Amino acid sequence: MLSDNPSLSFQHIRLNNLIFYPYIVRETVLNLHKYEIRPDDVFLVTYPKAGTFWLAEIVYNIAKPKPPNEQVSRTETIPLLEFYSLDTLELYPSPRYFKTHLPYEMIGHNSQHRGKYIYLARNPRDVAVSYFHFLRSGVEFGWDGTWEEFFGYFIQGNVPFGSYFDHVLPWWNHRNDENVLFIKYEDMKKDLINNVNLIAEFLNFNLSREEAECVAQKSSFKAMKANPETNMDQWSESFKPGSSFMRKGIVGDWVNYFSEEQIEQFNQWYASYIEGTGLEFEWFS
Ligand code: A3P
Repeated sequence: MLSDNPSLSFQHIRLNNLIFYPYIVRETVLNLHKYEIRPDDVFLVTYPKAGTFWLAEIVYNIAKPKPPNEQVSRTETIPLLEFYSLDTLELYPSPRYFKTHLPYEMIGHNSQHRGKYIYLARNPRDVAVSYFHFLRSGVEFGWDGTWEEFFGYFIQGNVPFGSYFDHVLPWWNHRNDENVLFIKYEDMKKDLINNVNLIAEFLNFNLSREEAECVAQKSSFKAMKANPETNMDQWSESFKPGSSFMRKGIVGDWVNYFSEEQIEQFNQWYASYIEGTGLEFEWFS
């Protein structure tokens, strides 16, 4: 598949003026705003590389969602919406749990954002570094570019699912809606059990202390990396040899990548979006 913007050197497609992975299901992305959301649907919404699969593992262990059939793997039990046809998503039994990177305005317009939404945000410096590795390792992107090249794409919003702040800010502005829970990767790293409890309460599950500890233990980076059902090794043919979806899982890896000049550039870009919003991130653990 050819990229439709020759100035971007990774494979992608463009729909509604937004860049997407080459392998998303176009019909789903284009029609989702018309899709009737079930009142008990739950959406785990993230910008790519913010910890989507981590959040999904926590929710999986809390809610134990049912797959549509026995052949569906653990990761697909909470499907990434944009990878499936709407017909396939209909086969999932309620209550359904979905992952998605789609921006606010593309989800659930028609049903007035019914359902529940957990938005997981991660500091954009670490997102950028994680995204850089993801883009380089994903076979379908056909990309072998440099950090410098990626940094330019990232702050211009020339990456799949668009600009980081266009994604996070609408959800931040809706953080106090009763059907929205807004959480941060850095807070989960600091106190996972507290965040497991927050998520469980939001989803109307009452966990004992032992149950919450068990969920936190199963969704630790170490446990997920060791577990063949969660470490994504089943998708290894989609990634170049030597790369791992479960890369580092830390806060602050950005210091190993950003030059002084990039920090300066980043800060200007950051301030232009963030000023007056009240949204803050911690950059180190
Ligand atoms: P790094 O590349 O910085 O290691 P997503 O699921 O949205 O694609 O996000 C992937 C990022 O989340 C990767 O970040 C990955 O290592 C990290 N991650 C996955 N599981 C994690 C966990 N249990 N704890 C902390 N980070 C995790």
